[in-house]
Amino acid sequence: MNSEMTYLLATNNPGKAKEIAPMFEKAGLLLISLADLGLKFEAGEDGDTFLHNATQKARETADFLKEHGHSYAVLADDSGLEIDALEGKPGVHSALFMGRDTPYHERCQAILEKLAHVHDEWRLARFICTLVCIFPDGSQLTTKGAIEGRIAWDLFGDGGFGYDPIFYYPPYEKTLAELSKEEKNQISHRGQAIQKMIGLILNENSGT
Ligand code: IMP
Repeated sequence: MNSEMTYLLATNNPGKAKEIAPMFEKAGLLLISLADLGLKFEAGEDGDTFLHNATQKARETADFLKEHGHSYAVLADDSGLEIDALEGKPGVHSALFMGRDTPYHERCQAILEKLAHVHDEWRLARFICTLVCIFPDGSQLTTKGAIEGRIAWDLFGDGGFGYDPIFYYPPYEKTLAELSKEEKNQISHRGQAIQKMIGLILNENSGT
């Protein structure tokens, strides 16, 4: 039954949409965006945890859709970059770090400067993603993903989005921005959370 439902992705981040939509399509699930409905809505993210914010985005978007007479399963993620040498920052506030409109290459440079004297073994970092799906009957599914790496010494690559050019993934000896979309999806925090969510939706898995 869940596989026949239409899913709506609650994000205004085109980078995320580009990663999530193909994975849903590949699993035979229909995923649309607010833009596909000609609607625009910015949900809040006021919490201090990825779970709080993903749930808030999904619930507020579901309520907004209901007001417009739509009933979809709403999918929302909250994600961020935790850097150990910065005590886990920018973490849950990654999207707002240095201001929402500051270009990411400036934010990446600022992080590199903060870590200028930090040795490789202390440059550990991880991307975290929590994904929430709220169904029209109010039930909810939650999955999580994480990828461990370290902060590079410069920006490398022009793929991906956000902090990808400074996130070095040791097993591939590349930053995430140097990977193809497919390669990134196979290993990324978001890719893992989405695969788990697709598994739950298709009743292939039973836990997160
Ligand atoms: P939010 O989930 O909308 O709060 O945004 C999370 C922020 O974390 C993004 O805007 C990026 O700054 C960062 N981020 C999350 N996932 C990734 C990723 O896969 N690559 C690079 N940056 C990411």
